[in-house]
Amino acid sequence: MLQRTLLITGGAGYIGSHIAYAAAKKGWQVIVLDSFVHQQQFSPSWAQVIRGDYADTVLLARIFSQYPIQAVVHCASFIEVGISVQKPLSFYENNVAKTITLLEAMLKHHVHQLIFSSSCAVYGMPEQLPLSENHPTKPLSPYGRTKLMIEHILQDVSSASSLRFVSLRYFNAAGALAQECLGEQHKPETHIIPLLIQAALQQMPFKVFGTDYPTKDGTAIRDYVHVLDIAQAHLLALEYLERTGMSDCFNLGSGDGFSVKELIAAAQDAMKTEIKVVYEQARKGDAPTLIANPHKAHTILGWKPVYKDLSFMLKSALAFLTKECLVQSSEKQTVLAD
Ligand code: UFG
Repeated sequence: MLQRTLLITGGAGYIGSHIAYAAAKKGWQVIVLDSFVHQQQFSPSWAQVIRGDYADTVLLARIFSQYPIQAVVHCASFIEVGISVQKPLSFYENNVAKTITLLEAMLKHHVHQLIFSSSCAVYGMPEQLPLSENHPTKPLSPYGRTKLMIEHILQDVSSASSLRFVSLRYFNAAGALAQECLGEQHKPETHIIPLLIQAALQQMPFKVFGTDYPTKDGTAIRDYVHVLDIAQAHLLALEYLERTGMSDCFNLGSGDGFSVKELIAAAQDAMKTEIKVVYEQARKGDAPTLIANPHKAHTILGWKPVYKDLSFMLKSALAFLTKECLVQSSEKQTVLAD
């Protein structure tokens, strides 16, 4: 069978790199396009890595002419909710305006399949739980609004052209693939699992944001999904586009929720150490509980998370964060387009 070629924007990032790995293992030729603004260098043997802006029209023209790209997985995005509140224009520019440029380039070069990295942030404050795809979408932050705007743009472009897309609404990605030196490491880090691990390793206090939520122990509840399960959903979404030629959106969550306190207890257990905790005000705009109804992805995509064990998620994240490859990776070179 002819090898198929996949372009992944933001493919050196946390989720994008796991998708790139899963696609390469599945036999895709993988082209990663990443600006390297938010992550360290990345030079795996199983992907071609191109450093650049995903809305650089000259670079896109060169990539689409040079490689027989069949589909694009669009992960490149600013993701920090708090910063999106302070700097909304940079989010609308980077996430929305640049996606329009990418879509124009795709259509111009007759690339008609797109998987979009969306977020449960499109829903806003839950009116019913668990959250189904038909729950009202009222995002609480500019970040969430950029994801929803892009979904609307994709629907309109899909109606007006032969573009077909699958939008995957991620809940809380967790875990890592340490043996490939893939994992979560943002700068600055704001996500709970790497922060908990750092707190345990450095014997620093971990800040719990909010203790009077209407939940069983007062702390916020989230639906954690292993990043390898998220990656697998992208492969199924690509198959879905190929099989049906239809556009759709799906939740990627496990359907189970864990509170911040439960996560702290699980991290202490996994790391066999005590984590010091300080209690702080809730972050503005954080929902008390976000849990997915993953039924649609189960039934239509055939997706079922495999790595549901919280302890496994934490241990794989720990293995990544304590790995030597993190030190070595800064010395590696990335491959440029020409
Ligand atoms: N939390 C803490 N202390 C910390 C960090 C987080 O108590 O130091 C809490 C948060 O308040 C929240 C939970 O842990 O209740 C999870 O927080 P994360 O920052 O890890 O993740 P979020 O749920 O805020 O964000 C995730 C994605 C975003 C997405 C958002 C949608 O990472 O990209 O879900 O709500 F926008």
